[in-house]
Amino acid sequence: MTGQDDDSKGFRRGLTNYGDRKFSIYLRRSFASSMGYSRQMLDRPIVGIAHSASGFNNCHRHFPEMIEAVKRGVLAAGALPLEFPTISLGEVFLSPTSLKFRNLMSMDVEEMTRAQPMDSVILLGGCDKTVPAQLMGAASADIPAIQLVAGPMSTSRHRGERLGACTDCRRFWQRYRAGDVGDTEIDNVEKRLASTSGTCAVMGTASTMAALAEAIGMMPAGSAAIPAVDADRLRIAEETGRVAVSLIGTNKTPKKIITNKALENGLRILMAIGGSTNAIIHLAAIAGRLGLKVDLKRMNEVSDTTPVLVDLKPTGSAYMEDLHAAGGIPAVMRELKHLLHLDCETITGETIGDRIGSADGWVDRSVVKSVDSPIRENGGLVALFGNLAPRGAIIKRSAADPSLFEKTGRAVVFTSLQDLAARIDDPDLDVTADDFLVLQNAGPLSEAAMPEAGYIPIPTKLARAGVKDMVRISDARMSGTAYGTIVLHVAPDAASGGAIGLVRNGDQIALSVKNHSISLLVSDEELERRRAEHNAGMRPASRGYDLLYRDHVLQADEGCDFDFLKANPSE
Ligand code: FES
Repeated sequence: MTGQDDDSKGFRRGLTNYGDRKFSIYLRRSFASSMGYSRQMLDRPIVGIAHSASGFNNCHRHFPEMIEAVKRGVLAAGALPLEFPTISLGEVFLSPTSLKFRNLMSMDVEEMTRAQPMDSVILLGGCDKTVPAQLMGAASADIPAIQLVAGPMSTSRHRGERLGACTDCRRFWQRYRAGDVGDTEIDNVEKRLASTSGTCAVMGTASTMAALAEAIGMMPAGSAAIPAVDADRLRIAEETGRVAVSLIGTNKTPKKIITNKALENGLRILMAIGGSTNAIIHLAAIAGRLGLKVDLKRMNEVSDTTPVLVDLKPTGSAYMEDLHAAGGIPAVMRELKHLLHLDCETITGETIGDRIGSADGWVDRSVVKSVDSPIRENGGLVALFGNLAPRGAIIKRSAADPSLFEKTGRAVVFTSLQDLAARIDDPDLDVTADDFLVLQNAGPLSEAAMPEAGYIPIPTKLARAGVKDMVRISDARMSGTAYGTIVLHVAPDAASGGAIGLVRNGDQIALSVKNHSISLLVSDEELERRRAEHNAGMRPASRGYDLLYRDHVLQADEGCDFDFLKANPSE
């Protein structure tokens, strides 16, 4: 495996074009030598480490230590590890949203993986959009790739109570808005919510995507839930380095691992863990890069036949570190053995069935329930369809109030995020707890670029009167750490002319989770009249990435990817 005379391996891969092959090799080796590598090292095959550490990403602050462990594994297995930074997406540091830049990061990962000389690549990410961006990029680059994640934060304490970002962030903020928590206490909570490196400590989007990366076979077994600060995290990093070397020269590209069956395994696990709604968008985008599709109607069938087994916040009570201690994702997969495609291959060489067969049998039943005694009989997420959402909308029923599931309500409409901010706390707002709050113009094509604003706050006057939940509908997303009877991802969105943009104050809307439906009870004639009057128009965008985004972003049911990045299904 020296790669000395082979232009398809190591530093000889993808030579810079100077019109003289030997000169290109000579120059590249000369410049690589300037980094202090010996000839023996330069002759090794190369494992790239695409990482997303950044001063603007608290979740990845331990990456230098993880990269060192990865390199140990790569070197021990006989290859040369070379790290390279890509765009990082720190969830709370990006404006207008991290989702807007997920596709940009995926293009960075794809192009740099392809353009630089590497024989396999390790994708080191963690914060919400980074893992899908890396999987999308690697799927398009089509070289052997393995995912490694940051791992979750550990919890901290406030007055004896466990705190973990970010479900507890929202819980305390809601209490602050309702007047139950004062300024000093909210200040103290702010300092304690996120106190270690790693991703949000609950089953939010980052944890969900880590679980799915493991379930679809792109990560070593048991690696999703290991806490960021645990020594096991470094051991799995070292192991990932070794596996990446074993992939060199094989055909184990994401295309080989992420098949339709693997995606369905991912959906099963998504339901069983009560995972984030965002994962539907990301899975659809990853699938699209491979010419595959996540069908929302099939998702409903999977949801209706998959029990919720994991008792984590935001829907339950435990944290990711508890899931690791309880047996991790392998314990969940073992329970669902009868529902999974066991013949799916994984990046570590064994099948999903092999993994389940060899997993440690112990499980903490307070965190991972058995199929005979689940938390819910059916899955956490449901796709809704109807004239309000012809291409679908999502509700996280496991995080919602079932008493609101079969209900018709009066629409109280906010036409934009600015309108919402200006009026939601107005004491004169005409709203009751039985109304449906509707937020327009927060979808993928809007200027807001589909923020996690679907968790519309309960109007202060109702919150102070004790109202905890209401039906809320939007074309926005919701953080995986949030909860409530919240209908999201309404497609098509208002900015592209979807029916949600035609809702007016006082309209009646019928929600039926049982029938998977969401309907605007307004006649077709009236909707056509409103549509003729309504000019969604194209928001202005003059240059650069914003222009690219506006002109090419797809709707939620297609993963909000760019149209030109999707694979041709016939390829
Ligand atoms: Fe990075 Fe939550 S902010 S995972």
